[in-house]
Amino acid sequence: MTLMNTQTVRTRIRLARTGDSHALARMRYAFRAETGAVIETEVGFQKRCEPWMKKHLRAKNSWRCWIAESRENFLGNVWVQLIEKIPNPVSEGELHGYITNLYVIPKARGKGVGSKLLRAALNWCRTKKVDVVFLWPSQRSRALYLRHDFAIAEDVFELRGGKNSKQ
Ligand SMILES: CC(C)(COP(=O)(O)OP(=O)(O)OC[C@H]1O[C@@H](n2cnc3c(N)ncnc32)[C@H](O)[C@@H]1OP(=O)(O)O)[C@@H](O)C(=O)NCCC(=O)NCCS
Repeated sequence: MTLMNTQTVRTRIRLARTGDSHALARMRYAFRAETGAVIETEVGFQKRCEPWMKKHLRAKNSWRCWIAESRENFLGNVWVQLIEKIPNPVSEGELHGYITNLYVIPKARGKGVGSKLLRAALNWCRTKKVDVVFLWPSQRSRALYLRHDFAIAEDVFELRGGKNSKQ
């Protein structure tokens, strides 16, 4: 399985397997290297990311990953983590869904591949009766999520890096 660009013939979305971990870790590196200054070599990163992915794909517990592919080529991927809530006695889902690492290789972008991946992840969240699906969009990808019915939350607090402002 390669990550190379392709003339998209037909895009298939499928659940990732442990055997995909090598290619998935490469895509993860490509994604983060595209959007930030990396502080780790690709080889070093691969050594710790690939086993992490293998472990979580094998466990099939809280994480799932979907891959977009065309023939033998990987076009992109998306990951979802289910986060348990404390049981509650009202009619409210008891899971949250965290969507992350939505990535499509540059040459396959703008043809709906990212949307297909996102739909697969959201469909799964629906089958799991997820309460809130959340993610942090990049500036450029906001329109994509808005088109899939996401809204900007005004009732969420976040504390970056766990820092206490008084220290
Ligand atoms: C975001 C991304 C997965 C979308 O994949 P795609 O196959 O191009 O998606 P679609 O063709 O279904 O939809 C196109 C939409 O993707 C978004 N998009 C396009 N290029 C993008 C880019 N370089 N970075 C981020 N989002 C992008 C835009 O919202 C675009 O819609 P618009 O043209 O109306 O603004 C892909 O562009 C990508 O991998 N970007 C880099 C990684 C990234 O930013 N991921 C999102 C993290 S939150």
